[in-house]
Amino acid sequence: MRPITILTGAGISAESGIATFRDPGGIWAQYDIEDVATPQAFARNPELVFDFYNMRREKVRGAKPNAAHHALGRLQKSWPGPVHIITQNVDDLHEKGGAKVIHMHGQHSTALCAACGHRWPAPPAMDLHDPCPDCRQPATRPDVVWFGEMPYHMERIGEILERTALFVSIGTSGAVYPAAGFVRLARAAGAETLELNLEPSEITPLFDTSRHGPATELVPAWVEEVVA
Ligand code: NAD
Ligand code: APR
Repeated sequence: MRPITILTGAGISAESGIATFRDPGGIWAQYDIEDVATPQAFARNPELVFDFYNMRREKVRGAKPNAAHHALGRLQKSWPGPVHIITQNVDDLHEKGGAKVIHMHGQHSTALCAACGHRWPAPPAMDLHDPCPDCRQPATRPDVVWFGEMPYHMERIGEILERTALFVSIGTSGAVYPAAGFVRLARAAGAETLELNLEPSEITPLFDTSRHGPATELVPAWVEEVVA
């Protein structure tokens, strides 16, 4: 059966109460990327970066998966072929909705040792002085990919996109590369492309079909169509 590849962005978690980045009042309207989401920011003021990610983790902690997350969990279980879900999100709502996903921007739920690469479950409040449980060095950082860093799992993502027959983008503005370029790679592989987003995005013109509305309505309806 046709392999399906799904890319999700902050929009799929919006109706779970987690702010997106570029919508009015979004995270980048409240914080400057240069202060909290670059390696330079972390070198300059690690406490500020830890405060930002501890606050983001706190906001995500109580969030519940919504009908869109659950629909993708159902699709992965019922589709007879591969369903790869690649998310730009660092929350765990896909997992809570029953899906297995590839986190290309990392995850709030893990801490990373910048010295030895060890990962462990993130404590509620991460601190620069937390020694790494493995190498004991005080090199703890959020396990989140910052602007200017390479996303995780890119080789595997490239292989997935080369083989996909249907590429679906859900809840992303198409503002950040390389994720925003995935639709081009899928088209080059001959895939059919579909965008499910609240409103037209920067990459809407690249899709065969675009549907606009809330993810909690569009995604379950699309999954019912596909598995029917
Ligand atoms: P980019 O140049 O691809 O970013 C493009 C978009 O990001 C811009 O259109 C703008 O919307 C936003 N942006 C980038 N820098 C900004 C700034 N200083 N102020 C406001 N908006 C800004 O990003 P990049 O530097 O090439 O980095 C891309 C890499 O960083 C990718 O690997 C991506 O996975 C990663 N990344 C991770 C996060 C995160 O928080 N996890 C955020 C962004 C990018
Ligand atoms: N249903 C569907 N789509 C929605 C909803 C909703 N309820 N609410 C918002 N959206 C759409 C918006 O129209 C917008 O196109 O979700 C998109 C959110 O875009 P961004 O805020 O830019 O989030 P995202 O695309 O995930 O950002 C990409 O940038 O800063 C980095 O690491 C960050 O992974 C993020 C990356």
